[in-house]
Amino acid sequence: MALSRALAFDGVAFSYGNVAALSDVSFEVAAGERVALLGRNGAGKSTIVRLVTGLVHPDAGSVWIGDWDTADLAPEDLARRVGSVFQHADQQLFARTLREDVGFGPRALGFPAREVRRRTDEALDALDLHAHAEQHPYDLSPALRKVGALAGALALEPSLLVLDEPTAGLDRAWRARVADALREHAERGAALLVVTHDLAFAAETLERGIVLDRGRLACDEPLERLLTSAERLKPLGLVPPPIAALSVALDLPGRPVRERDAAHTLARVAGGRSAS
Ligand SMILES: Nc1ncnc2c1ncn2[C@@H]1O[C@H](COP(=O)(O)OP(=O)(O)OP(=O)(O)O)[C@@H](O)[C@H]1O
Ligand SMILES: [Mg+2]
Repeated sequence: MALSRALAFDGVAFSYGNVAALSDVSFEVAAGERVALLGRNGAGKSTIVRLVTGLVHPDAGSVWIGDWDTADLAPEDLARRVGSVFQHADQQLFARTLREDVGFGPRALGFPAREVRRRTDEALDALDLHAHAEQHPYDLSPALRKVGALAGALALEPSLLVLDEPTAGLDRAWRARVADALREHAERGAALLVVTHDLAFAAETLERGIVLDRGRLACDEPLERLLTSAERLKPLGLVPPPIAALSVALDLPGRPVRERDAAHTLARVAGGRSAS
């Protein structure tokens, strides 16, 4: 369905000089889909983020954002559809207050002041950042600056949100807020492509896992299945998160990977045992 396609990689190759970063990568992400992009250090994840945002272009193959071929598009063109947070986004805030920074994207896209204000307020709300809105970004912790950068991406109301390690350095409460905001955004129809080494966060928040291995696509499947097969994760440099490992160790029915699902299943199994 061409209309519901948020992103497509079609036979993409990319090298930095003579360092091959990606070879023959193909996948599609539909509107509303929540995808984790996984793989060990150097696998090519951030290179995918750079291609999606138009910072670099493929040497071979094509990257599509909806029905736009990115070949001739610059990051500022793509910003109408793509919101992004880079791996080192904590260094990218530059305005005098967090509020100004969050509003920067919609202002740059030419929205009138009222619309900029609405979007900024909603993004600050979604991440519970109002208490920090008037602070100078550099008075925030690096982790919070990254949450601020995420608010800036949400304020673009993009059809595709691409995030590189959004939870690095965040405590449990902030991770939960980020997870809620991302799920809400996806429920409104946006696609999520989230690079993460935090597989517990991926399990709770996302639904599908794409794994890169030395620049090639090694797996593309539902996270429930991927995260509960330790023998397949290991050669890809990934370790199952605790709930998935527990689920396998206890042989829980349906092999749940989310805390809530595992708790329900455990309660059901325990109830069944005590009743019998
Ligand atoms: N600017 C660059 N110049 C040269 N080589 C680069 C550059 N950026 C990345 N590479 C190389 O390209 C390959 C893919 O890098 P990439 O940053 O996409 O990996 P990654 O999966 O994001 O890794 P990490 O988990 O460490 O962030 C690696 O071999 C890396 O060394
Ligand atoms: Mg990276």
